Amino acid sequence: MNRIRKAVFPVAGLGSRFLPATKAQPKEMLPIVDKPLIQYAVEEAVAAGITEMIFITGRNKRAIEDHFDKAYELEAELEAHNKQALLDLVRQVIPKNVTCIYIRQSAPLGLGHAVLCARPVVGDEPFAVLLADDFMDTDGAKPVLAQMTEVFGYEKCSVLAVQDVPRAQTRQYGIVSAAPYRPGLELVSGIVEKPQPDVAPSTLAVVGRYVLTGAIFEHLENLGAGSGGEIQLTDGIAALMRAERVLAYRYAGQRYDCGSKLGYLEATAAMGLKHPETAEGFRAFLARLAERANEQANEEGGHGGT
Ligand code: G1P
Repeated sequence: MNRIRKAVFPVAGLGSRFLPATKAQPKEMLPIVDKPLIQYAVEEAVAAGITEMIFITGRNKRAIEDHFDKAYELEAELEAHNKQALLDLVRQVIPKNVTCIYIRQSAPLGLGHAVLCARPVVGDEPFAVLLADDFMDTDGAKPVLAQMTEVFGYEKCSVLAVQDVPRAQTRQYGIVSAAPYRPGLELVSGIVEKPQPDVAPSTLAVVGRYVLTGAIFEHLENLGAGSGGEIQLTDGIAALMRAERVLAYRYAGQRYDCGSKLGYLEATAAMGLKHPETAEGFRAFLARLAERANEQANEEGGHGGT
């Protein structure tokens, strides 16, 4: 199998870092300007030629299924009021040739367990995993997952998206040990989940885009609980790497950690400055904010000086 046809979206997480916003709605439905995080991730998969979207969901996640389904009442209303542009927007949330499959992960047993839940649907094929709260902006250039499926196309092995992070942050990521392989690609020789900065083997962190061969499932199946008492995808990849080649890919693009409040705000600001309806007004607003902050700093400086 040369082409990646299937993508797995683990979306069962509780989103506790965004409470109370996520009390009754999935964190993946939080919008960046006007589009939910999960739709950006699905669009990235579509742009990589993927046609089967497999969502690993949990309780409280119905909104995701509704989002990618037909919205009869809304569409009828928009049609009745001749709001064609909005109607198109609602109907084009997902292309017609794309199938959505939902699998419930009944207990929060970890990312590795979530991916394993997709096994009956994925089978032995290579597939992609996208974590929607890692929001990737390539500014109109080739989306990150498409860059990775291209690498898969000629390397025919698992590919992990990686970026350098400050050493103090290694405890938030899967961290790889790797050696140069080809420009932009490194051969993974070790991977560990969320190491403390003093023991982290490097500062090369895995971000939420993976292309994995079907062999990962067997390894995940055989895993016990790892870091945090959960079945970790990272541990499955560590086992996979001992059996076959796994590459780390330094993607081109900007990642925003939308699992954190600051990353989410940064993504919102970055996209707000690009959205045709908000760019101009938002830029002016930011300029006013900066001016006000300057004035305040000057006033405070003035008081302190005399
Ligand atoms: C997960 C993975 C971790 C990876 C990270 C990327 O952690 O377990 O290996 O580096 O995603 O965002 P989480 O952010 O879900 O805690």
